[in-house]
Amino acid sequence: MLVADAVARTLSELATPVLGLATGRSPLAAYRDLIRRRQSGELSFAHARIFLLDEYVGLPPDHPQTYRSFIRRELTDHIDLPDGSLHVPAGNADSLNDACDEFELAMRAAGGVDLQVLGIGRNGHIGFNEPGSGFTSRTRPTTLTDVTRQDNSHFFGGDIRSVPRQALTQGIATIMEARCLILIATGTRKAAAISAAVEGQVTTEVPASVIQTHPHATAILDQDAAAELKNPGRGGRWIRARRTTPS
Ligand code: GLP
Repeated sequence: MLVADAVARTLSELATPVLGLATGRSPLAAYRDLIRRRQSGELSFAHARIFLLDEYVGLPPDHPQTYRSFIRRELTDHIDLPDGSLHVPAGNADSLNDACDEFELAMRAAGGVDLQVLGIGRNGHIGFNEPGSGFTSRTRPTTLTDVTRQDNSHFFGGDIRSVPRQALTQGIATIMEARCLILIATGTRKAAAISAAVEGQVTTEVPASVIQTHPHATAILDQDAAAELKNPGRGGRWIRARRTTPS
């Protein structure tokens, strides 16, 4: 509800809204809510653009676990987003660096991201910016850690060997240029990462900690993900959604 409300506000207040969206399990409840609101005519994506955070390298285009396939299945096939308004880094381009540059150019041409939805990895990653990623990084190819591949093997029948070792990801600096950030986390397995990201030191070892330096960042958490926070309401910036899965 909170996430879908923020997206709905962005869609209704701006003439050409630009959304940055995440894949993974965390935003699925919000995407279901957005589909429902679209189907009841409450909102429209007709003038929107969507930029995904990241994409695997090397999966065939028709593979169900490319992030393009994922977001189509979970959201964009069910809303009125025009063809061509979904931008995903091209993980099977001949030149991955060129693909990343093209993605950044398209984002700039669209006027930058108004609202960026983020998940968080157990190791504190955002997008596929693994620990150690520089805060000045831009969209680029990156190597995935074993923790991330293990966690994402859930989508590949539980087999880590099927999870690509490389991905393209928006950089930290790219993500931080979004005018508003919403980070979603649920479940106890994210509690330590959330505590480090929200209340720990701002450090490249916990990439998500960079959001503490963003002027409009909110973490939307269920009680389990917020369990290790000392002060969940600090400054009113960190919202704890009660009991239910954030949507
Ligand atoms: C993945 C994605 C991230 C996502 C995160 C959390 O590796 N690259 O963009 O936010 O991990 O995933 P989940 O929501 O499934 O826990």
